[in-house]
Amino acid sequence: MLLISLLSISLLVLLLILLVDFLYLWSLLMTRSPFIPIPQERVSAIISSLGLVDGSTLYDLGCGEGRVLIGAAEVCASAKCVGVEKSPIAVFLARRACKKAGMSSRISIISGNIFSQDLSDATHVFCYLYPGMMSDLESKFTDELQHGARLVSADFPLPTKEPKEVVALVDGSPLGRKLFVYDF
Ligand SMILES: C[S@@+](CC[C@H](N)C(=O)[O-])C[C@H]1O[C@@H](n2cnc3c(N)ncnc32)[C@H](O)[C@@H]1O
Repeated sequence: MLLISLLSISLLVLLLILLVDFLYLWSLLMTRSPFIPIPQERVSAIISSLGLVDGSTLYDLGCGEGRVLIGAAEVCASAKCVGVEKSPIAVFLARRACKKAGMSSRISIISGNIFSQDLSDATHVFCYLYPGMMSDLESKFTDELQHGARLVSADFPLPTKEPKEVVALVDGSPLGRKLFVYDF
């Protein structure tokens, strides 16, 4: 009896591991910017570059597990924070992290494609996406972002627009060492 219970539990754990692997692989194959979270140590620099104020509406495009959104909601209590994410596993992790941080009512995680998301109410945008996506997004930002909206992009710049500032971060992880700051 004990052996059967142990076998069933092992089988369930194995199935769970396979499911997680499958979903991660799906995210790698189906998006041009796989799920690689920005190091936690970069979050405060990103938030200060964003310059959120009362009433800001921040979008994290491809929000992963939502760490920038959670950091932003902690710093700016009145900001509206929205994450857009295509990978089901990242959506699950982001919603779970927001709940754990007690931020579920202040952060919305939209399960969807960045390119279908209307950005006209964004005052601030953060993204950590690969160069191919940045070049497709530049015209969307130019068309949809309101005058004065600020974009912070980690590591990868827009192909043609000149950044207002490039913040160089030297310590720690090799990821997210440059923040490209744009005002539209
Ligand atoms: C490099 S990760 C960055 C995650 C998060 N922004 C962070 O900084 O921790 C890129 C994320 O973008 C998501 N992504 C890629 N293409 C997308 C698309 N077209 N629509 C929505 N999300 C997308 C991926 O699933 C992945 O979670």
